[in-house]
Amino acid sequence: MILISGEGSNMAAIVRSARQERWAERFGARVTAVISNKAEAGGLVFAQAEGIATAVVSHKAFATRELFDTALAEAIDAHAPALVVLAGFMRILTPGFVARYAGRLLNIHPSLLPAFPGLHTHQRAIDAGCKVAGVTVHQVTAELDHGPILDQAVVPVLADDTAAALAARILTQEHLLYPRAIGGWLAAQARAAEPAFSPS
Ligand code: GAR
Repeated sequence: MILISGEGSNMAAIVRSARQERWAERFGARVTAVISNKAEAGGLVFAQAEGIATAVVSHKAFATRELFDTALAEAIDAHAPALVVLAGFMRILTPGFVARYAGRLLNIHPSLLPAFPGLHTHQRAIDAGCKVAGVTVHQVTAELDHGPILDQAVVPVLADDTAAALAARILTQEHLLYPRAIGGWLAAQARAAEPAFSPS
């Protein structure tokens, strides 16, 4: 299950990796659905063309964060996913929502966490004079952009870099990192489910 708000290029990278790396045969895993909080999210078109179920749960239709998260959880649970992947999903989630999917909720964030949680990460890295920047895949916990880190990738910050140029350099790495991290998570789940070896 993948949640998006926009282009969905990370979602597309995950869908392609699932196919190329044969996640269905190896782990019994497939992308069950893509949900967006924005009807105009470009990623929905890609998902539909791939034959993946899509849904829109607009945050604007709900008076509070709690009501939105309850509706979102209902849409997610309809597909009973093992893993919920946030891929450019630009909503802050309530502690109740995060607790419901504890241990099976991943996010990608375009900075080297714990540096630069929140928005405008690329400009902030440039303004701080960072020589490197990057991207983090982490487990989601109640504190925004603070959960245990699964993996990171580093890119250089170049002299005269713009936020857009740095973002594009990082996005290329995101498309490699997120599928790799999810593949690792699936492999770990598969190993944990194997019966323990007991010599007779
Ligand atoms: C990505 O750069 C992702 O890291 C970022 O939004 C972009 C989504 O692109 N996520 C965040 O900033 C989360 N706080 P995409 O829709 O093409 O995958």
